[in-house]
Amino acid sequence: MLAVVPRRLQRRLVSSFFGFTPFAGGTYPPPTRTILVQASNISSTNKNSISTKMEKQEQQSNKTSSTTIKSNPGLNKVQELMRSDSSDGWDKCWEQGLTPWDLGQPTPVMVHLHQTGALPKGRALIPGCGSGHDVAAIACPERYVVGVDISDKAIKRAIELSSSLPNADYFTFSKTDFFTWHPTELFDLIFDYTFFCAIEPDMRSAWASQMKYLLKPDGELITLMFPISDYVGGPPYKVSVADYEEVLNPMRFKAVSIVENDLAIGPRKGREKLGRWKKFISQSMM
Ligand SMILES: C[S@@+](CC[C@H](N)C(=O)[O-])C[C@H]1O[C@@H](n2cnc3c(N)ncnc32)[C@H](O)[C@@H]1O
Repeated sequence: MLAVVPRRLQRRLVSSFFGFTPFAGGTYPPPTRTILVQASNISSTNKNSISTKMEKQEQQSNKTSSTTIKSNPGLNKVQELMRSDSSDGWDKCWEQGLTPWDLGQPTPVMVHLHQTGALPKGRALIPGCGSGHDVAAIACPERYVVGVDISDKAIKRAIELSSSLPNADYFTFSKTDFFTWHPTELFDLIFDYTFFCAIEPDMRSAWASQMKYLLKPDGELITLMFPISDYVGGPPYKVSVADYEEVLNPMRFKAVSIVENDLAIGPRKGREKLGRWKKFISQSMM
């Protein structure tokens, strides 16, 4: 039997579940000009204030079961839209402002990797880029970044938020279905965050196959694996390192490193791992 949860607490639960700035909080979307400023300072003040707010939400959610989390009407609405129309469902979520996954800022660990020179240069791809914060955050003269999303509304949002940024020459957005895409140039880096968990689990093999196809032979796939959890249903569908290995190993990807994401925002801490994968041509290297 589902517990009845007051509406105010329900909002906190779904916030914590995705780890996002609540829809009703008024801080999303962020002003366009602040995106890169936030990115460069994220390791200090901004990150701490976000974490503090999120950690309070997490403490609240820890007192409840995953069953009550699933009773959240906002989350149910996202899942309902996806069930009713698997292709247009995402667009409807964007249209209705049902984007609980959206941090309203770049992903801190990607900003960190970018700023410390730990990301491959060249061409980068972010599939399921949403409002494009990560695309803009890692774009620079040495790295051209392409963000693709199946939702027209998401792409419009991404362009609106980022087109006047000083590094706007180094990234682009495209309304594209990742699974059927045949770009003219391949990529040195692909970053997946909350895309793997968003697709139907039976699409994961196709996801891995497309990753293999889109990466240059010596390219790198970075997966921020989330949510590492044990609930049932989705999206977001729960993930585990084994879920990634199951589909990536047959495509000759091998994990170069898998580490806990210490820079995860508060509610996602302990439920995210950063995986870095390379393709190995020779069977003997697997
Ligand atoms: C959970 S959201 C994550 C967005 C973004 N990565 C983030 O962390 O804010 C998943 C995104 O994937 C997009 N998407 C779903 N299926 C897709 C597909 N086949 N090709 C490209 N994008 C897709 C959705 O429109 C949505 O914006």
